[in-house]
Amino acid sequence: MVDNPFAVKSLPLINQGKVRDIYRIDRDTLLIVASDRLSAFDVILPDLIPDKGKILTSISNFWFKKTNQIIQNHLIEDFDLTNYLTEDEIMLIDERYVVVKRLNPLPFESVIRGYIIGSGWKDYLSSHSISGINLPVGLKLAEKFKQPIFTPATKAKVGEHDENISSKKIAALVGKELSTKVEDISHQLYEFAFNFALDKGIILADTKFEFGLDNTGELFLIDEVFTPDSSRYWPLDTYEIGKSPESMDKQFVRDYLETLDWDKKSPGPKLPLEIINKSSNKYQQIKNILCN
Ligand SMILES: Nc1ncnc2c1ncn2[C@@H]1O[C@H](COP(=O)(O)OP(=O)(O)OP(=O)(O)O)[C@@H](O)[C@H]1O
Ligand SMILES: [Mg+2]
Repeated sequence: MVDNPFAVKSLPLINQGKVRDIYRIDRDTLLIVASDRLSAFDVILPDLIPDKGKILTSISNFWFKKTNQIIQNHLIEDFDLTNYLTEDEIMLIDERYVVVKRLNPLPFESVIRGYIIGSGWKDYLSSHSISGINLPVGLKLAEKFKQPIFTPATKAKVGEHDENISSKKIAALVGKELSTKVEDISHQLYEFAFNFALDKGIILADTKFEFGLDNTGELFLIDEVFTPDSSRYWPLDTYEIGKSPESMDKQFVRDYLETLDWDKKSPGPKLPLEIINKSSNKYQQIKNILCN
């Protein structure tokens, strides 16, 4: 296991994601701490990216606020942690934690793609379709779709890969009404953030959302939103159809890893210091552009 300098001991750890540690505050409330871990190809790398967890938390909180008009989210603001954690612990996780409503996550990730890239490009090359959506022939790498497409994916267990599934399968999982609602809200969220980022000279190529239900069946946006871990951000000025875009997100590390002879199985390789620092700078850079 990668060492975790941001672990707290005063609350029970109930779940550890690839990036986040989830603690139970009470039956309805969770503390989520974003570590500096980086996962690529679903493997947690042995190195930490300095300040990554703080930057992700700040970007995500920024977007949660901005998208509140479209959908409510899991954040509980101004929660007093002093009854639960020591002062040292609160200082340790400063800027990298959120207190949230504990919700029941829907069993899939809601992906919206505005451009063809990544696993979508691979699926397209082999089948001319992504998640059961047939696409026109002749699309080029990084080309913009006429309309953004909804390509949900299963949430893989640790060590396994997410898999694209069709909207039909989503409807079978959670019912037609809820699946349509999730698809519709995902499109609205993407459109909003796409336009916002474009104004700042950034292309939001694709993104992934998670949703959860409370006990009365109300829908909430959960997890993280429009971070450079869950989204692809490209600079507009160097974007060219047919060319692999310059990335301002974790694609930068994936690109480096692709140059290695690594089978993409755990354990992941150590990163050179230069790649670690550059990656940390990229996270900071996209935050500065978007959130100022
Ligand atoms: N409000 C919430 N209620 C319950 N669970 C939540 C809530 N918000 C987020 N989660 C869950 O917490 C975990 C977040 O951890 P993390 O982002 O590290 O997960 P991961 O999915 O393993 O990693 P990756 O994002 O790289 O796929 C996810 O399993 C997510 O579903
Ligand atoms: Mg996650």
